[in-house]
Amino acid sequence: ADRLRVGLAGLGTVGAGVVRLLDANAALIERRSGRAIEVVAVSARDRTRDRGIDLSRFAWLDDTAALAGHDEVDVVVELIGGADGPALTLARGALSAGRGLVTANKAMLAHHGLELAALAEERGLPLKFEAAVAGGIPVIKGLREGAAANEIARVTGILNGTCNFILSKMEAEGRDFAEVLSEAQALGYAEADPTFDIDGIDAAHKLAILASLAFGTRPAFGDVGVQGIRHVLGADIAEAAALGHRVRLVGVAEAGPSDQKGGGLFQRVHPHLVPIDHPLAHVTGSTNAVVAEGDHVGRLLFQGAGAGAGPTASAVVADLIDIARGVVGTPFAMPAAALAAAPRADSGERRGR
Ligand code: NDP
Ligand code: HSE
Repeated sequence: ADRLRVGLAGLGTVGAGVVRLLDANAALIERRSGRAIEVVAVSARDRTRDRGIDLSRFAWLDDTAALAGHDEVDVVVELIGGADGPALTLARGALSAGRGLVTANKAMLAHHGLELAALAEERGLPLKFEAAVAGGIPVIKGLREGAAANEIARVTGILNGTCNFILSKMEAEGRDFAEVLSEAQALGYAEADPTFDIDGIDAAHKLAILASLAFGTRPAFGDVGVQGIRHVLGADIAEAAALGHRVRLVGVAEAGPSDQKGGGLFQRVHPHLVPIDHPLAHVTGSTNAVVAEGDHVGRLLFQGAGAGAGPTASAVVADLIDIARGVVGTPFAMPAAALAAAPRADSGERRGR
């Protein structure tokens, strides 16, 4: 088979990381994929910006949306970010033009995942987003494929590397919130707008995607109750420690007592007091962790790097390898038509929890 030709939109932390990874492990990736994976065209805002990578070998497109219809491109990788705007235009354009799509954009998926999945499925195209939840941890694949035979009772996770980095540093080093946030930004963990991290919105985007995979509801950000860490003080962390707990921003999705699956689904992100003997209490720095409880497999724990260039690029390139191998699959845990027909989840806040 011929090489897989990639059109890459976004050359920031993750996009540049993808170019570096494809360069560093080209031979290994070709052996494992059965064919070479090569970036042929790229686009970002500023052509002159030094990104520490050689872009002269790629076609540069000033018009990012044009990547979708570029003759040389087989699959589009969207690493711009944002729920709407140029990312969504490109995603819709790529699938409409018959190109597969890989994205790390959890905001777009939490708002428009069902529409994009339907578009991909109608055309028999891959839509893959392993990097969108928990960075380098293969939790999408783990839930969608690995745990597919199970009824899932509950998914719990530390889903935002920036918040976990901030909370861990505040606890271990007594550091100031703002100073640690700047450090997380410098390390490439934070979103372009870091209020998405500290206000819990990014974790809620990810929880909406995980809940869809685990419970067969449509991904719906509006169904997630959200509270961030903006108001957590050093004194709160010290008080929690004195009581044998750690403060962590945790997302929880669980089937409620109602036998109406989906209608009884509780989804919420908020600062938790995690007992010191719980595995999530020992997740530090930008590490993420997801615990899923299945009726036959039991408790699954996924843990690893949740943000940053290398781990996130690792997940993006894993999706490209799948596509190079000819894997199309289903974007979510069931076909889009079934997701669309499933009852809407109800939010924790609306249920007064
Ligand atoms: P960055 O802000 O570092 O990079 C964004 C890139 O998109 C930049 O190259 C920028 O161009 C380009 N861009 C922005 N606006 C436009 C536009 N209007 N048209 C064309 N290009 C545009 O973001 P990240 O790399 O950190 O994140 C990318 C995606 O990956 C996001 O969806 C994010 O949520 C997701 N993600 C990020 C992780 C991380 O650890 N950073 C982890 C998991 C997912 P220019 O460089 O010229 O300004
Ligand atoms: N801003 C996100 C985080 C990036 O800190 O977890 C990974 O999705």
